[in-house]
Order: sequence, then structure tokens, then C-alpha cells
Amino acid sequence: MTNAIYLATTEPYSGKSIISLGLVNLLVGKAAKIAFFKPVISSEGPEKESHIDSIASYFNLSEPYENMFVFTRSEVIKHINAGNEAYIIDSIIGRFKQLQESHDFVVVEGTDFIGGSAIGEFGGNISIAKNLGIPAAIILNGQGKSVSEIVDAAVNATKSFIDNGVEILTVVANKIDLEKEGEIRAQLTKALPVDLIVTSIPRNKDLDSPTMKEIFQAVGGKILFGEHLLSNPVDDSIVGAMQLHNCLMRFNKNTLVVTPGDRGDIIIGALQANISKKYSKVAGIVLTGGLVPEQSIINLIEGLDTVVPIISVESGTFKTVSRVAGTQSKISPDNKEKITLAIGIFDKYVDVKALEKKIISFHSKILTPRMFQYQIVKRAKEHKKHIVLPEGDDDRILIAADSLIKQNVVDLTILGNKESIGAALKRLNLSMDLEKVKVINPTTDERYNEYAETLYELRKNKNVSMEMARDLMQDVSYFGTMMVFKGAADGMVSGAVHTTQHTIRPALQFVKTKPGVTTVSSIFFMCLPNRVSIFGDCAVNPNPTAEQLADIAISSAESSIMFGIEPKVAMLSYSSGASGEGEDVEKVRKATELVRQRRPDLKVEGPIQYDAAVDASVGKKKMPDSEVAGRANVLIFPDLNTGNNTYKAVQRETGALAIGPMLQGLKKPVNDLSRGCTVEDIFNTVVITAIQAQQ
Ligand code: ACO
Repeated sequence: MTNAIYLATTEPYSGKSIISLGLVNLLVGKAAKIAFFKPVISSEGPEKESHIDSIASYFNLSEPYENMFVFTRSEVIKHINAGNEAYIIDSIIGRFKQLQESHDFVVVEGTDFIGGSAIGEFGGNISIAKNLGIPAAIILNGQGKSVSEIVDAAVNATKSFIDNGVEILTVVANKIDLEKEGEIRAQLTKALPVDLIVTSIPRNKDLDSPTMKEIFQAVGGKILFGEHLLSNPVDDSIVGAMQLHNCLMRFNKNTLVVTPGDRGDIIIGALQANISKKYSKVAGIVLTGGLVPEQSIINLIEGLDTVVPIISVESGTFKTVSRVAGTQSKISPDNKEKITLAIGIFDKYVDVKALEKKIISFHSKILTPRMFQYQIVKRAKEHKKHIVLPEGDDDRILIAADSLIKQNVVDLTILGNKESIGAALKRLNLSMDLEKVKVINPTTDERYNEYAETLYELRKNKNVSMEMARDLMQDVSYFGTMMVFKGAADGMVSGAVHTTQHTIRPALQFVKTKPGVTTVSSIFFMCLPNRVSIFGDCAVNPNPTAEQLADIAISSAESSIMFGIEPKVAMLSYSSGASGEGEDVEKVRKATELVRQRRPDLKVEGPIQYDAAVDASVGKKKMPDSEVAGRANVLIFPDLNTGNNTYKAVQRETGALAIGPMLQGLKKPVNDLSRGCTVEDIFNTVVITAIQAQQ
């Protein structure tokens, strides 16, 4: 079941407030705590955003206003221009997760499409929905559109969301002509996927029409009369420039009259029409040109029982009319009539039962790179660990350390010279507080002798003399690893400067494997656009035996579980199933058998080819009875040549984020960086090391 839904539109004024209000109304009756969240708001000023304000006050939602949005539209544009898209998504995921954890259901409303590039904004909404991992409802503005235009818009929008991995619960064609409702519903049902709920809502003038208050906010000026009737809806407007008898003929229900302030005849005529049984109600009057009626007319108005709002503005008639025409109706907290009307429309037109069923049966199949990164950082912060970074003389290490400390992810020890690290921080313009980070110089540290002695004791049977041990302990990889071994740090991350061999050899020599594991191996978390796959082993064992391959598969499955991914293990080969022969295939077949024997609880398939492992249609064709084929998320390569090149090929060709390698099987976590690593790689590797250390 999902506990959140994303309400997306494709253009301005689609009327998504009907769905927001209706959904929140539906949910408050079913769950204890409901949150409303609008990640990006259009309003820039001090005034509260109208949907958030209306929903929060009408339903008495407890969340503070500031928590119900993250960015204003202009802030988003600024971050995009500065290339900070990741920051936008991370901030939105962070706030959403807070709301999701503290509420039973979160209704998330997309952007308003007011101003700027609609294509960019549409893509932005898809990206947010996808990164939150929640299903969406698409609301289309059907006003003034033909049936085929509505159907085309619905099909295109739905396809774009689905192609990007976002499930659609319902498509709502809103503000459509009442007489076309049946036809639109039928055509949409035919054109859209069968499992999708089609909703069509006819245009409701009472909801769509601005009030006199909104007209007043748009035209400005001064209210002369009828302030208590500012909630009057405005369905139509006319310019009172012609003679009164001609003007009267054009009065419809709830007409706003715009006329120069010296046209006493039009003013009195409009007020009389408002109370006459022969004419419809008048919404109000706007007097233009800064002219106010003569005193005799004012006296006449003052003597009337019912006076509609009369507003006097400085602007001329033409300017005023265009402002009136551009006034859009908004739901506001003080307009309870509109709020209840919107809820009534939702209840009438939305198949609530079908929607509830879809909400209950929804399971997110998506794990985006940013979601995964958010999850791992959050986990690392939950039980802070202490990580040692031996390569304090590398700028990338210091930049990553600065951001790890500022975000309070881990405690750090950096190996190196305190003075030169301080100078580097200054040069890099980093404000990392060296009081919060331990900086240790191995050769002058008080533990140096003790560590060298321990190394000697552990390795003397491997022909390591005391002198050799003292030499080795000057090496930052040995010193850092010994800190982990001794419990002075919980994990180590190195390799930005040193080779893999140099970095991991000390751990292989004396940290050693944990019980039940004989082979240290590695995995990469391959963060693909919609999912995270685990690739092993791509960094350690050049030519694993069948036994080692089984070890790698079991360790990789356990690592997968540790990171919240339910493993479906594919033992990769150039052959699928029983058909292939040859030494290499036999090795994989034997390894698969060993995994099945040792861990009957794991879902494993092998030998299997890559396409049959990950592509549902190929998997079904080649291995129809397999519960892994087509769905594999832990991919075990037969040797290091295949694994290392495949991870690099996928990373380079698809732009996937590769987090790792993460070593597995050691008693304590030590992880290796590549010498070409980025600051983000270092940050991520420290985060996964901290999570390993929590186990
Ligand atoms: N699991 C457990 N223990 C191991 C493993 C292993 N996979 N490999 C070696 N050991 C142990 C040995 O048993 C030995 O222990 P001992 O000294 O107590 O008897 C110790 O580690 C040293 O063993 P060596 O055989 O001397 O291994 P060496 O240190 O020379 O190399 C290494 C080990 C570094 C893992 C080697 O296999 C290697 O170079 N692998 C490839 C690394 C690489 O280049 N990867 C690709 C680049 S990384 C990237 O692209 C991200």
C-alpha cells in the first residue's frame, strides 16, 4: 500500500484543488494524521500559498506552514541555473520522508505551471514523483478543448509518467463541457491503459469564477460600498460604455460591470437590475479613471437596502478590463463555500472505491539513485560511526570530509600532518572545524609502538620481523587498518591515492574474514534510473573457484539485505539453464548448487545470461519457471575480467551512479576507493562503510 500520492498537472489552472481537497477530505475520515505537501510553491511574497493555507486551515492540519513546502519557484530556478538539481531533489525527498514518517498519509501537490517553461516543469514533476517513489494522479485542463485534444494530452502525459517508472492511479479530465462528458470518458477509457481509473469532471462555474475579493485584489483601488458582499462570484463582465438600455440587455447572471466613475446612470441601473425580479444578480461594479460618483448619486446609493461591491480604481477602463479578464479563481481559507463545493464535486465524480483499492494495492517498484542515497545517509546518521580516512593529503578527501562533518553523518579521524591539513583547508576555503575531527600523524602518535607490536605478533609466522612491522606501521594503510582492528575506529576508507592492493592487503592480512566466510569480495551498488542493482565481484578476486563464487554470491545477497534490497541472485554465464557446456559454465553451475545447498532460503538462478537475468520478456522465454530470471537484482560475475569491465561499461554508457566497491566478508569494514574517484564517491563510500560498521 502507498501512503502518499502525487497530484500532477500539465498546464496552469487545471483545477487540481478539487482533487487535493477531495482526497484530504476522504483521508481524514480514514486515517489519524494526514499531511499536505507542496514541494514547490508559486507565491514569492509573505502571503501564504493559497492551497496550503486553505487545506491546512479547513482540515485543521497540525504541521507548521513552513514544513509544507520546500522551495519557491524562483529558488528552484536559481538552483537549476547553478547546476544544483541534485540538491533540489535531495531537499524534497528529505522533507517528504519526515512528513511520511510522522503521518499516515501524505497528499503531495505538484507545481502550478504559472510562468516559465512548461516542458521543463512537466519533467520536473515526473522527477519529483519518481524520486519520492509514489504513484500519481494526472489532472488535465479540459476547458475549451476538443475531445481528441483531451485524449491526446491524457495519453501523452500518462505515457511520459509511466515510461519514467511512475505508476498512474487516475487521469482526471477536469473542466470539460458537461454535454461531452460521456464521450470524453468513453474515449479516454479506450485510449488509456486498462488498469487506470478514468475520471471526468464537468466545468463548474461557481468554482471557476473569481470572487469580487479576487477582482479587488487584481485591480486594486478602494472599496466604496458593499464590502460585506466581496464573496460574490463573478461569472461574466461587461464594459458599461454604451447607453443604459443597451447595457442592461447584456447583463447575465453574476455580471461585473466596469464603467467610468462618472457614469451615474450605469451605476444606478446596475444596482436596480440587481434587485429587480426581471434581471439576474449583479456581481459588482468597478469604477475606472479615478472618478467617483457625484454626491447626489452617492446619496441615492446610500439609501438603498442592497448594494453590491463598488470599487473605485485609478486605472482606465481598458487596463482595468484586462486585469479583470486575467483574474483566476483561487481557493482561499475564508471561502468555505468554494471548499465545500470542491469536495462535493470530488465525491460526485471520482470513483472513490476504485481509487482506495488502487492505493491499497500499490507497491513501489522504484528505487532511484537519489532515493537510495537519501536512505543510506539517513541510516548512517541513525547510529553515528567513526571512520578513519588515511589519505589526509588528498584535496578530495578533505572536501568530502568537510561535507560529512557538516551533515553530521559520521565522526572522522584523518591521518596526516595537522599543519599541512589546516593549510589545505584554508586553500580550499573549507570551514571544517579541526576540533571536531581527529587528525593523527601515525609516526608521532602514541599508539605507534603498540600497533607495530600487534602487527608483529599477528604476522610473525608470515616472516614479518619487528623491524618490518615498525616500517609497515608508518604506512597510512596499515596504521588506519590497525585502528579499525583495535577498535579505535569503526571502519576505514582509503584508495584515492593508493592502489587496491596497497589499500586492502593489510585488512586481508590481519582483519581477516568473519566466521563462515573464506573469501573477501566486493560489490558495487549500480544506481540505475529506476532501480539499484548489485554487481559482484568487480574488484577483488581475479579468478574465483566455484567455492569462492558461491561465497561471493552469498556475501552479496547478505549485503543486499543489509541495504534493504531483497536479493534475487543471478549467477552469470554465457549460457542460460541446462543447455550450455564447458568448463566456465560448469564452474557457475557448481557455484549455484553450492549456494542452494548452503543457503536454501536465497532466491538464486544460474547459470544465466545477463539479458535473461534482468529483462522480463527474455527471462520468461529462456527460463519460464525461474523466480529470478527477468527480475535479478544481485548479479554475480564469473570472474574479475567480466565483472570489472561490465560495471565500468554500464557506468559509462548509461550514466549510472556506481557506489563502491564495498568489500564484504571482512570482520570489520575497510573499503577501497578508485584513484579516479570523485568527492561524491568518497562521501558515498564513507556512508556505506558506516552502515557496514553498524551491523
Ligand atoms: N579473500 C580472503 N583473503 C584473501 C583474499 C581474498 N579474496 N585474497 C588474498 N587473501 C589473503 C591471503 O590469504 C593472504 O593471507 P595471509 O598472508 O595471511 O596468508 C593475504 O590476503 C595476502 O594474499 P596474497 O595472495 O599475497 O594476495 P595479494 O595481497 O598479493 O593480493 C589482492 C590480494 C590485492 C586482492 C589481489 O587479489 C588483487 O590484486 N586483486 C585484484 C585487484 C584489482 O586490481 N582490482 C581491479 C581494480 S579495482 C577497481 O576497478 C574498482
